[in-house]
Amino acid sequence: MKDQTHTSFPAPFSLQGKKALITGAASGIGAAIAERFAAVGAKVFIADRDQEGAGAMCVKIGGEAIALPLDVTSENACADAARQIGPIDLLVNNAGIGAVGTILQTSGEEMDRMYAVNVRGVFNMTKAFLPGMIAQKSGNIINMASVGGVVGIRDRLAYCTTKFAVVGLTKSLALDHGGDGIRANCICPGRVETPFVQARLKEYPDPEQAYRDMSASQLFGRMIRPDEIAAAAHYLAAGESHMVTGTTFMVDCGWSAGK
Ligand SMILES: NC(=O)c1ccc[n+]([C@@H]2O[C@H](COP(=O)([O-])OP(=O)(O)OC[C@H]3O[C@@H](n4cnc5c(N)ncnc54)[C@H](O)[C@@H]3O)[C@@H](O)[C@H]2O)c1
Repeated sequence: MKDQTHTSFPAPFSLQGKKALITGAASGIGAAIAERFAAVGAKVFIADRDQEGAGAMCVKIGGEAIALPLDVTSENACADAARQIGPIDLLVNNAGIGAVGTILQTSGEEMDRMYAVNVRGVFNMTKAFLPGMIAQKSGNIINMASVGGVVGIRDRLAYCTTKFAVVGLTKSLALDHGGDGIRANCICPGRVETPFVQARLKEYPDPEQAYRDMSASQLFGRMIRPDEIAAAAHYLAAGESHMVTGTTFMVDCGWSAGK
């Protein structure tokens, strides 16, 4: 009897043959996304200003991973990167920095620094790589916003301001370039246990107690793991989510649900 298995179907959620560039991929969420994309067949570019960390991630992933030392705040560096590696299928604008404070505690310089990485970085990378995507009539952009891009968070004035901007940029981009075969979505994580959060914990008088308090304040009693954000990125990157564009994909363990 003839084999009835559908061997000609592509593996579900495969990224085989896709070229993916992930910024901030030397650490935390970006590193988890790079690992996951590579595991399902993508050729990944680990773009980060931390050259050593990017190299180490490449060694960890092996295969076709390529380190790309890059500071996303430099428009010229982003344009050079696009010229160097050519058209890509997936761009994950994940690089981002945090800051604590109210408006009165935030200096103008700090505000500019936050804006330069979290907003201008997304702008620079997207502007550099979009023309190549338009030329091939397909492209998929995933921007790492935050729950703080959808609801306000106390003492995070600069951070929330920049992440709301990322959401606005993403929605406008999705509308402007849907007709060019481009998708653009945001992921809005809640509290994810990464070096980003570990650095914040060190600022508390008792970091271990702060860790326990932070975990207990989450709906499921623990912080989100980077691989749980990578799973969302994988869904958005795959063909199966083809009709999903212009969204804010909340992976916030219910943080925003009651707001
Ligand atoms: N960790 C969380 O709780 C959380 C929650 C919501 C959103 N996010 C967002 O997720 C993203 C990743 O956060 P993470 O927790 O993995 O942080 P992380 O600090 O662990 O990693 C960030 C990476 O970005 C790189 N980077 C920073 N500035 C850069 C620049 N100018 N150019 C290139 N690379 C740069 C760093 O070198 C680092 O490798 C950020 O955009 C952050 O705002 C994080």
